[in-house]
Amino acid sequence: MQRIVIFGHKGQLGKDLVKLFQKAGCEVVGYDLPELDVTTPEIYKLLDDPAPDLVINSSAYTNVDLAEREIDKAFLVNEVGARRIADLSNQWGAPVVYYSTDYVFDGMQRKPYREDDIPNPLSVYGRSKLAGEKAVENYNPRYYILRTAWLYGPGGNNFIEKMISRAQTAERLEVSNDEMGSPTYTWDLAQMTMKIVETKRYGLYHATNSGECSRYQWIKACFEHLNISTPIIPCSRTKFVLPAQRPAYSAMDNRKIMTTIGWTIPSWREALLHYLNRRGEDNK
Ligand SMILES: NC(=O)c1ccc[n+]([C@@H]2O[C@H](COP(=O)([O-])OP(=O)(O)OC[C@H]3O[C@@H](n4cnc5c(N)ncnc54)[C@H](OP(=O)(O)O)[C@@H]3O)[C@@H](O)[C@H]2O)c1
Repeated sequence: MQRIVIFGHKGQLGKDLVKLFQKAGCEVVGYDLPELDVTTPEIYKLLDDPAPDLVINSSAYTNVDLAEREIDKAFLVNEVGARRIADLSNQWGAPVVYYSTDYVFDGMQRKPYREDDIPNPLSVYGRSKLAGEKAVENYNPRYYILRTAWLYGPGGNNFIEKMISRAQTAERLEVSNDEMGSPTYTWDLAQMTMKIVETKRYGLYHATNSGECSRYQWIKACFEHLNISTPIIPCSRTKFVLPAQRPAYSAMDNRKIMTTIGWTIPSWREALLHYLNRRGEDNK
């Protein structure tokens, strides 16, 4: 039986990681706030515990807009925390998984971003995650850096849940149709994680559901499936003045991970329907 340590196991991705690895018969040990803060040297006390076979870091500072003000905090969790976890896992002799983001790119490209495209983050969040990538590479040679995007999963305060909740009171919703990305379902990302660590092919991967869509197309598909009648009006992203700048185009090319793991990664639309059906089951 494999022993897996997951940092950030209470987050939306963390929950699905726990579920999937337990289902596969692994012993899963999870750490999260408030019991353990990954930014403190306290985490080295874990070296007294039996060494795991794998360390997964899904802890993160994920509030993209607040990060513009809480710069130190964002870097503390996303860079310093990532460094400590990479170092700890290296001392344990275990590989480490770190999740990064499409927001490391500036969105000037008009074709899906590949692993060899040059990052140029527009926001504090994007810069802090890129700094985390570098820290992981420097502190544990056996790393998997999985860049994901527009993540949603059970219990998360994600874009889908925000729109569904707003639709209950709003007469109509305006959603941008000029912001393109690759929405990704946590359950599929958890599966990509399990499959890539089995290959022992360390490195950087773009790990998203397949295809691309605008936020408008995404929410339209969601509301159609749920029979939500609130009208959705396509608009320009420039209508929303937010503290953090986001890339206008950040679709990701996931062919490298797809070929490496030999799994046809579901499209964003298939993944969305899977999530919405499961959400219905969870709410019964
Ligand atoms: N969400 C997205 O759209 C998105 C997009 C691209 C990439 N990603 C990346 O994907 C990964 C998973 O994201 P997610 O959406 O699952 O995040 P999430 O739901 O915010 O979960 C992150 C978890 O980490 C915990 N955490 C924060 N600071 C911590 C600290 N100092 N010590 C220990 N735990 C701490 C959080 O606790 P609290 O809730 O108490 O803060 C939370 O339980 C992250 O690396 C994120 O950067 C996310």
